[in-house]
Amino acid sequence: MKKTAIITGASRGIGMQTAKTLAEKEVQIIAIARSKKPLRNLEQINPDLITAVPTDLTDEESVNDLVLLLEQNYDGIDILINNAGALINKPFEDLTLDDWRSQIESNLITAVHITQRLLNSFNKNSHVVNISSMGGYQGSAKFPGLAAYSASKGALSILSECLATELSNHSISVNALCLGAVQTGMLEEAFPGFEAPVSASEMGTYISEFALTGHSFYNGKILPVSLTDPE
Ligand SMILES: NC(=O)c1ccc[n+]([C@@H]2O[C@H](COP(=O)([O-])OP(=O)(O)OC[C@H]3O[C@@H](n4cnc5c(N)ncnc54)[C@H](OP(=O)(O)O)[C@@H]3O)[C@@H](O)[C@H]2O)c1
Repeated sequence: MKKTAIITGASRGIGMQTAKTLAEKEVQIIAIARSKKPLRNLEQINPDLITAVPTDLTDEESVNDLVLLLEQNYDGIDILINNAGALINKPFEDLTLDDWRSQIESNLITAVHITQRLLNSFNKNSHVVNISSMGGYQGSAKFPGLAAYSASKGALSILSECLATELSNHSISVNALCLGAVQTGMLEEAFPGFEAPVSASEMGTYISEFALTGHSFYNGKILPVSLTDPE
């Protein structure tokens, strides 16, 4: 039977590439993001396998609608990739409390909320992959300007360890991948001119393989995926 995967943040960058690669592997994809047009374009690549569900993950009603749609139309979920995220690059002294709240909301609470709401929809032997960052990896060199981003990703990393313990009785594995720099819109906007050693397509291929097979080897692990430290 075909596997079903939910990928958040699939309108561009790493999430879009992961969705494309998983669809090439015959996985049924539910692609989530706020921007409708790029999601629809993604869906057009393989309408039999990719379903775009525009959703703002910070909006409870929007998430309610998503959960209802999943419950009514799918037998169960095998893979959840919590990839949606945002990055604010500002010196610590300039970060407002609203910046902090928004980073925690975008990078932690959205993953908490959707994972919790989908608990009853996971099939046996399912895999939750949380996309964290080298900034959220203990002991990595840290970039100035990324305190709120890195702290929110650090929380997502530790959440993955906690959920692996709590969800083992649901037969759900949970891992965090701490990515180094990947060439995407997020990176270009935060660090104009910086050239990452890995493309979004290469990382999408890696993540899709990990989502399908990584839980046979890892559970509750925070794994660095980086050629260099900190990039
Ligand atoms: N690129 C890197 O170097 C790098 C390194 C380490 C970790 N990461 C992590 O990898 C993940 C993907 O990064 P990326 O570089 O591909 O970023 P990106 O190009 O900016 O993509 C982020 C995705 O998240 C979606 N998103 C953001 N807020 C959302 C919300 N409230 N509801 C639904 N979707 C939302 C965006 O879509 P909409 O705007 O359409 O909603 C977009 O599809 C992120 O979690 C990022 O922190 C990236």
